[in-house]
Amino acid sequence: MAGKIPRQFIDELLVRVDIVDIIDSHVPLKKMGSNYTARCPFHNEKSPSFNVNRNKQFYHCFGCGAGGNVISFLMEFNHLSFVETIEELATVAGVEIPYENQTGYEPEAKNKLVELQEIMAACATFYTQQLKKHPQKQIAVEYLKNRGITGVIARDFMIGYAPDGWQILSPHFKNTELLCEAGMLAFKNDMYYDRFRQRIMFPIRNKRGHVIGFGGRVLDDSQQPKYLNSPETPLFHKSNEVYGLYELLKKNPKPARILIVEGYMDVVTLAQFGIDYSVAALGTNLTATQLQLLFRSTPEVILCFDGDNAGQNAAWKAMDAVFSVLNDNRQVRVLILPSPHDPDSLLREEGTQAFLQRIENAEMVSSYFFNHFTATLNLDSIEGRAKLAGQAKPFLLKLADGFFKNMMLAKLEELTHFDVAPEIEKETVAPPQNQHQKEKNVRHSMERLTLALLVQNPKLATKLEANPIDWQTLEFSGIDIFKAIVQKICIEKPTSTAQLLEHYRGLPEEKMLNALASLPILIPDDGIEAEFSGGLKQLILQGRKNRLNKLVEKEKTEGLTKDEKDFLRRLLQF
Ligand code: UTP
Ligand code: MN
Repeated sequence: MAGKIPRQFIDELLVRVDIVDIIDSHVPLKKMGSNYTARCPFHNEKSPSFNVNRNKQFYHCFGCGAGGNVISFLMEFNHLSFVETIEELATVAGVEIPYENQTGYEPEAKNKLVELQEIMAACATFYTQQLKKHPQKQIAVEYLKNRGITGVIARDFMIGYAPDGWQILSPHFKNTELLCEAGMLAFKNDMYYDRFRQRIMFPIRNKRGHVIGFGGRVLDDSQQPKYLNSPETPLFHKSNEVYGLYELLKKNPKPARILIVEGYMDVVTLAQFGIDYSVAALGTNLTATQLQLLFRSTPEVILCFDGDNAGQNAAWKAMDAVFSVLNDNRQVRVLILPSPHDPDSLLREEGTQAFLQRIENAEMVSSYFFNHFTATLNLDSIEGRAKLAGQAKPFLLKLADGFFKNMMLAKLEELTHFDVAPEIEKETVAPPQNQHQKEKNVRHSMERLTLALLVQNPKLATKLEANPIDWQTLEFSGIDIFKAIVQKICIEKPTSTAQLLEHYRGLPEEKMLNALASLPILIPDDGIEAEFSGGLKQLILQGRKNRLNKLVEKEKTEGLTKDEKDFLRRLLQF
């Protein structure tokens, strides 16, 4: 038996994973104001009424009413059980489930992903050992020396050596099938053989430090391909990971900026020169998921590309991903190095200070973006300006609403001498209009609205802790559930709506909580606290009045007990 999954672990898991990332990988989402939308995967529809909210970590469909947190989504979407869903989420987050009755893992209770993680870790260790003790290690050691890699950096990055040989891993680990699933073996002519042979090995670790893949570089540049990467495996999805993030966060969990470079060697050399805040995309175009991953640890990302054509193209290609994740709190800059350099070669030529200066001077993405067009288009002609508007528009449409978007639009207008806003508005996906309109006209009762505000912003509960409510003195419809939820929040202190909902899974109140979580409240973020305080104040005043009236009424008809009389006196003092 695997044992029970601790409640606290589930709460933590909901903090680690992001509902937007996870739903987006199942149903591509489009950003719409502070929400993300798509056509609902749970019913047939033409226009998108499925909404995902990052702050609340909650989804809701205005069409069919489906809603819940990321666990509910995965259960529904993948038809998984609760436990299976938690296991899947734990894998995404790169954490192991600490089953309650567990005293060390028993082999048969382990799940596949854990086994894969373990064999990958063992392979990485094996390769580092080969670099120390293999009879032919000298050629690898020399190679690293020639490239200026010190022992310390090699250790930090767990750099290793895959010796020359077709059958090294299998006999050593005696688990051919697992090695194969981990991408360490290839199968050809009825035979398994080592994928990485005679290469310098760079383990790719996820944020949690688990080895999930490898990059292997030839020792002899005449061999092809220069770099061989692990294939996609259950552990390793190239487009979701970057090289060097674990090593970077270990040095500094909250870096002021992260540099994205093209190659493994660039990351390693940058660290060697003291610039220990770079990562590399894994030989693919930069993806929004990779950027999101970085923006969870830093407010600024600098894209650093080689000055050759491939580098310039890659920089421009990255704009797709960049524009889909940028917002007012995030900054992106672009640094194109002088051709034919990459960070590795440039650092060795000009040293750390000069390179830092380049980072300092890196171009803002806004300027890089418009310069890309103005360099080639003739903006003195209507034709050139129309091209600019047409080409720039799809990017600006991806931006989250906010000052940055508005300023980019203003810049486009300045360059085109044309009011592009109406054109842009037209193309922005329309919200599920009719539904929103309907909701807008429904007046929510004060109780419901105040409670919904609290459910959607559980942090407001701190307001209540400072001024505890004297429930006895109040009377209003739904007071019991109101009180129960307030108390739950004060005890559990959920950091998001998703966490709060999780505490109600399977309970009779679950439906009501879901409804409150998805109640559309048209209040701007900076007005929520005031709205809540105001609502609560009114609710308390009204609640006391109700309670008072009830007692006065009873006094007239059937009279009051002594306790009730005392209580009435107390109420009248407020
Ligand atoms: P580069 O060819 O620019 O290599 O590839 P590099 O980083 O400068 O390597 P050195 O300095 O010659 O050792 C950049 C990145 O592209 C991917 C790798 O991730 C590499 O780090 N790549 C390159 C491959 O995946 N396969 C290849 O054959 C070449
Ligand atoms: Mn290089």
